[in-house]
Amino acid sequence: MKPFFSPLLRALTAHAKNDPVSFHVPGHHYGQALQQELLLDDPTNHPAEWFSSIMRLDVTELSTTDDLHHPEASIMEAQQLAARTFGAEETFFLVGGSTSGNLSLFLAICNPGDIVIVQRNVHKSVINGLKLAGASAVFLSPQIDLHTGLALIPTEGQIEEALIRYPEAKAVFLSNPNYYGMGMSIRPYAELVHRYYKPLIVDEAHGAHYGFHPHLPQSALAAGADAVVQSAHKTLPALTMGAMLHVQGDRVQRDRLRQALAILQSSSPSFPILASLDISRAMIDALGSQLFEQSLTAAASFRKWLDRHSSVIKEMANKENQDTTPFADPLRIVLYDSSDRLSGFELQRWLEKYGCFAEMADPRYTVLIFGINISQKDILKLQQAIIKITCLIEKKAEACASSSAKARTFSDSYTKQRISEPVSFARERFTHTRIRIELDQAEQRIAAEMVVPYPPGIAILYPGEVITSSVIEQIKELSTLGAKFQGAADPSMAKIEVYETN
Ligand SMILES: Cc1ncc(COP(=O)(O)O)c(C=O)c1O
Repeated sequence: MKPFFSPLLRALTAHAKNDPVSFHVPGHHYGQALQQELLLDDPTNHPAEWFSSIMRLDVTELSTTDDLHHPEASIMEAQQLAARTFGAEETFFLVGGSTSGNLSLFLAICNPGDIVIVQRNVHKSVINGLKLAGASAVFLSPQIDLHTGLALIPTEGQIEEALIRYPEAKAVFLSNPNYYGMGMSIRPYAELVHRYYKPLIVDEAHGAHYGFHPHLPQSALAAGADAVVQSAHKTLPALTMGAMLHVQGDRVQRDRLRQALAILQSSSPSFPILASLDISRAMIDALGSQLFEQSLTAAASFRKWLDRHSSVIKEMANKENQDTTPFADPLRIVLYDSSDRLSGFELQRWLEKYGCFAEMADPRYTVLIFGINISQKDILKLQQAIIKITCLIEKKAEACASSSAKARTFSDSYTKQRISEPVSFARERFTHTRIRIELDQAEQRIAAEMVVPYPPGIAILYPGEVITSSVIEQIKELSTLGAKFQGAADPSMAKIEVYETN
C-alpha cells in the first residue's frame, strides 16, 4: 500500500487555491456566471451550491494543468501511475466513457473493409466503431449459461473456427463480463487468439474493479488481453464518463490508437472527470484490497439476509469462488421473483417506489451494483423495500409472462446461428434505399434494420447482414414464443426492411 497521491487532484486544487481569475473557457468562470437565484427551487434545496462546488474545479487545458492529447505533466504522471496499478504498459484516460475507447479501437485496428471477429451480443458503441471504421464483422453467437439463460462470450471452439475461416481478420473483439457481472476467464481466449498472431480486444466496461481483491475476478489485462476498455465510472469512484483504455504488447499499434483518440476525444476534456480517474487509482494504491472489503462483506451479508427473509425474491446464483466458470462478480446482486409473478422490470419499478434505484432490469432479472462504501442505511432501505415487495408478491395471484424456462428457450435459439458471413459496415451501405418486404420473401436479401428480440435482447440481424433461411426461421420461432421486436419497422415481424437491390 502507498500513501494517497493524485497528481491530477493536486494540480486542480493548487490552481483553485491560487484564487485565479478566469478569462478563459469554460464560460461559467469557476461558477461565477451561474445565476444562483434561478436555480433555487425551494429554501431547503440548493442545487446551485452543489453545482458551484463542481464548477470551482472545472477547468480544461491550462498551463497549470496538462494536455490530454500531448500529456507532459499531471495527466502523463496520472496515466503512468494508472498503467502501473492496472497492470498495463500504457493507459489512456477517456472522458467519453468506454464508448470512446471502443470507437477508437476500431479506428486504430481496421482500415475500411477489414474483418474483425466480434461476438454478437455487444454494446452499440462496438457496432458504431465498426461503422466508423467502415469495417466488416464476422459475428459469433454467444454461449448461453444453462443455469440462468444469460448470454456469455462465444466458445473457444467457435473463435478458433472463425480464425481458421478468416485468417485475414485483424482482431478478435469480446465483451466480458456481461451486464449481470457474469463472465468467463479470458486467459485461454488470449492464448488461443495469440496462437493465430491476432490481438484480443476486450470490452471490460463492467470490470474496472477486477483483480483488486481475491474475491473479485481476474482482469482481462492480467489474463493477457492486448487492449482493454473499462468504464471506471461504473464500479470505481469516478465521475460519469470517466473510463480507461489499457494496452500491452505490440499487437495494437499505439500511434494509430493515439491518433484515433485525438480524433474522437474532445479538445476541451473535463479535468474533474480526469481527476476522478486519478483519484480512483490513488484510492486503490492507498488501500489495496481493503478498498473493496466493506462492500464485499455488505454484499455477502445481504445475500444471507435475503436467503433467510424473502420467500420469493431470490438472487441469481452467485458463487464466491472465482475459479469456477462462468464467474460471477460478488458486487452485483441479480434479483428475480422465483414465483414468476413480477417481471424484472416490475421489480425494478417497485424498488424505485421505495427509493432504491437499480442499475438495470430485463424481463426476468433486476441488477443491483454494490458500490464502494455502501452504507448500512442503504442496505436497510433495500431490505425494507424487499420485505414490502415480498408481501405484495404474495398477494398477487397470477404469474407474469416471463418464466425462467421461457427466457432460456428464447436464448437457446441463439446457439443455432454460430458464425456469420462477414457483415459490411461500409458507409455507402447505409445510404442505399430501404424497402419493406414480407419476411418470407427476404431470404438472401441484405437487412436494412437491426432485429433485436426481447428477451434476450441480442441482435439476430445487424443492418448489412445477409438474411439466411435459418435466420428467418429463428425470427418466426421467437415470434411464436412471444418475443417482442421493439424498434423494428414492423414489430410483428411479418415484414422486414431490406436494402433495395440495383
Ligand atoms: C458492455 C458495455 N460496453 C460499453 C459501454 C459503454 O460504456 P460508457 O457508458 O462508459 O460509454 C457499456 C455501457 O453500458 C457497456 O455496458
